[in-house]
Amino acid sequence: MCGIVGYVGHRQALDVVLGGLRRLEYRGYDSAGVAVLDGAGALRVQRKAGRLANLEAQLDADGRQTFAGTAGMGHTRWATHGPPVDRNSHPHRDASNTVAVVHNGIIENFAELRTELEAEGVELASDTDTETTAHLIAAAYATGETAGDLPASVRAVCRRLEGAFTLVVTHAGVPDQIVAARRSSPLVIGVGDGEHFVASDVAAFIEHTREAVELGQDQVVVISRDGYEVTDFAGEPAQAKPFTVDWDLSAAEKGGHDYFMLKEIEEQPDALANTLRGHFHNGRITLDEQRLADQDLRDIDKVFVVACGSAYHSGLVAKYAIEHWCRLPVEVELASEFRYRDPVLDRDTLVVAVSQSGETMDTLEAVRHAREQKARVLAVCNTNGAQIPRESDAVLYTHAGPEIGVASTKAFLAQIAANYLVGLALAQARGTKYPDEVAREFAELANTPAAVQKTLATSEQVRALGREIADSKAVLFLGRHVGFPVALEGALKLKELAYMHAEGFAAGELKHGPIALIEQDLPVVIVMPSPKGRAVLHSKLVSNISEIQARGARTIVIAEEGDDAVRPYADSLIEIPATSTLLQPLVATVPLQILAAEIARSRGYDIDKPRNLAKSVTVE
Ligand code: F6R
Repeated sequence: MCGIVGYVGHRQALDVVLGGLRRLEYRGYDSAGVAVLDGAGALRVQRKAGRLANLEAQLDADGRQTFAGTAGMGHTRWATHGPPVDRNSHPHRDASNTVAVVHNGIIENFAELRTELEAEGVELASDTDTETTAHLIAAAYATGETAGDLPASVRAVCRRLEGAFTLVVTHAGVPDQIVAARRSSPLVIGVGDGEHFVASDVAAFIEHTREAVELGQDQVVVISRDGYEVTDFAGEPAQAKPFTVDWDLSAAEKGGHDYFMLKEIEEQPDALANTLRGHFHNGRITLDEQRLADQDLRDIDKVFVVACGSAYHSGLVAKYAIEHWCRLPVEVELASEFRYRDPVLDRDTLVVAVSQSGETMDTLEAVRHAREQKARVLAVCNTNGAQIPRESDAVLYTHAGPEIGVASTKAFLAQIAANYLVGLALAQARGTKYPDEVAREFAELANTPAAVQKTLATSEQVRALGREIADSKAVLFLGRHVGFPVALEGALKLKELAYMHAEGFAAGELKHGPIALIEQDLPVVIVMPSPKGRAVLHSKLVSNISEIQARGARTIVIAEEGDDAVRPYADSLIEIPATSTLLQPLVATVPLQILAAEIARSRGYDIDKPRNLAKSVTVE
């Protein structure tokens, strides 16, 4: 949720840290702060509520030259404990202003730690859980076994913490080192030439190096100018996994667009092509990491897809394909509900955990619950080496590239494609599809990047429509079969970007309640199935539209090119290329993303950073 960056090297730390924070701001944007060690025993800290721009303006007012130093760290916050005001912004310090800490996650036993500190006479200056760690680390460094040893002091405090956390710590007396620790919250190390970085994600340092190391669970790293050293929380040397980032700086820049989201919508053909690339070899579907035997896949008798938000909608789409191709029952469940419901799981259950970030806490906890119950877990993830794939039995990466707009677009389409590959891999292992059928399905999937490219040509028409309906008080979305999750996704995009009341319904449910919402001029978006592929459903939806039109609503119809039967019922018709039934969500979602973005833009909102949201939700 929060963005963290730390640096020790030969450049001015403030410049590097602010550059990193600019790329991490999508992780949280309630407040921002920096700390720089000046090398002469002083710690300079500045922090400000609001966007990073507020902090930068304050630094200008302070005089950036007063923050000279080659070691430092920064933070961009999504508030959990305490409102987003200056005093709750990170870094937090101890009373003597020698230790500074930035933190992502939640320290669950913070109330207990706070009471303990207050009983010792410590006055806490903020409402945060984080500040307790600064006081505890300062105390551990001051006396006892860990005195004068910053890494040992951090490890000792980490052993006392409960919950999920990434901590980055500096001490004015140790100006050439930064210490970082992680438990269930992301942290990567960047390895440069005479400089090292720690960050919530590689975007923070991609400008300087593509060589990265993934810090493991319950590990601590000490970075200095010349190297890094990893231990576990007990101080024993530990292994962390090196990797090379497979995208470059241009992927993390707007590339001439006003917003990342608009660029990411246009990148969808590439995101799909990259996700499919390399997964069909010698007539067989392959995953990226498979720590499961084919026999395990043959033994599966039930599939759960667990995920949150848009990723959950991708799972709803997958259900239609996996049940159809594999003849296996598939349940799709919100990760936040899954483990509290006592689902029936055993060795023969496959849990597919879908997550763009790979660090969503609800999904991670669902994975852990599934594994405790001996179920097999397959992760579909967009982030190399994130916690969810690390804890899974098999992994399929969606190679969508970095998604920086907070609302998911290209990652969502890539998730649908990856989920389909999972379905085909299962069908192949279980023999419910012949090899030539698997090859045909894959070939159809391989055509979707071109179909999405063609759909992008509707952009201008959809934008004009968005501007026309931008003042509506609500919008409804209807679909059937795979069009139903598309309707849910369209409504979610509109809610999060345009702060508008939007609901998605299965069109068959209309008469069971939602039709009461229909009123004069209310925009209703209808996702039509193919008249050829799903003729029965098509005619049922035509009836639904005429019922809506009869009650004065404004019908906006997304339909396959050449679908003349629906034309008379469409006040606005957006034509998408014909695809097979199961692949239609990949094209039908695109106009809904563009519509939501344009409505939000017309209403004057920042579509990359919608209010109250953050890109990855690392708290439950
Ligand atoms: C919606 C959106 C969120 C995410 C959800 C899961 O546009 O972005 O609903 O889909 O928070 O995130 P991941 O996929 O990172 O687990």
